[in-house]
Amino acid sequence: MPPATAKRPAITALVTGASSGIGAALAGLMAADGVDLVMTARHGPEMEAMAAQWRQRHGVAVTVIPLDLARPGAARELTAEIERRGLAIDYLVNNAGFGTWGHFSATPVIDSEELLRLNVEALTTLTGLLLPGIIERRGKIMNVASTAAFQPGPHMAVYYASKAYVLHFSEALAFELKGTGVTVTTFCPGATETGFQERARMQKAAMLHLVKMPGSEEVARAAWSAMRAGRGVVVPGLLNWLLSRGVRFAPRRMVSWMSAMVAGPSRN
Ligand SMILES: NC(=O)c1ccc[n+]([C@@H]2O[C@H](COP(=O)([O-])OP(=O)(O)OC[C@H]3O[C@@H](n4cnc5c(N)ncnc54)[C@H](OP(=O)(O)O)[C@@H]3O)[C@@H](O)[C@H]2O)c1
Repeated sequence: MPPATAKRPAITALVTGASSGIGAALAGLMAADGVDLVMTARHGPEMEAMAAQWRQRHGVAVTVIPLDLARPGAARELTAEIERRGLAIDYLVNNAGFGTWGHFSATPVIDSEELLRLNVEALTTLTGLLLPGIIERRGKIMNVASTAAFQPGPHMAVYYASKAYVLHFSEALAFELKGTGVTVTTFCPGATETGFQERARMQKAAMLHLVKMPGSEEVARAAWSAMRAGRGVVVPGLLNWLLSRGVRFAPRRMVSWMSAMVAGPSRN
């Protein structure tokens, strides 16, 4: 048995979308628990400011790699840069993502392409390229999906479908990795107060006016606790959990109708 004073081996986590919202809060919780970090998103200065605080306060190593992950080839560039810096990733958090609000016919196709490259392609490429090392170190993966993953989403059709991909891909991967010691958590938050709503230009969506949204800290705490425990699919919040289960028992046409009521414009 190692002596009681033996230091735990360092763990390094890559967190995408770490400049704001759920990703930034999650990275902060990890740093407070002594996890070394690689933070990535487009806004470098915001991440550098957090990194400086956490290095000083928690004594962790934090590397900031600013990058637009929706650019073709960017996920490969990120893993090459991580390797060039001699870093080994134990924990991978695929959190970067955004949504677009409005009918598909009125949404520029270029926006949907960008969304799919970030929410789907970058997540898949990063998982694939980092997986051999994560298996070797018996690490952990957390993919951030959404309650949107459980049903079609008129008014946010491409976003909902992208999160259904994240859910199904991650569940299947978790199954395939059984026995390797690697856990895959699919974290499915409901509406959360972050920069997400402004970027999606969805301030008029009914869902934002139905219930008070939790903040990113509260949601990140649930995410970090689920990832540490190696849980599978996690839907934080009782109402979110009930809706994600209930949807299985309703006729599909009714599901689309209900979903449209929630994601569509508020009547007030
Ligand atoms: N907020 C919600 O209601 C909600 C609900 C369910 C699921 N989610 C999911 O939670 C995750 C985090 O979102 P959030 O709510 O925390 O929103 P957020 O505050 O807007 O954060 C999104 C993060 O992704 C990064 N990002 C966006 N585009 C990027 C790009 N092209 N390349 C690299 N990074 C990029 C952003 O950083 P930069 O702008 O610096 O690039 C930011 O750090 C997303 O996957 C989202 O789909 C959110």
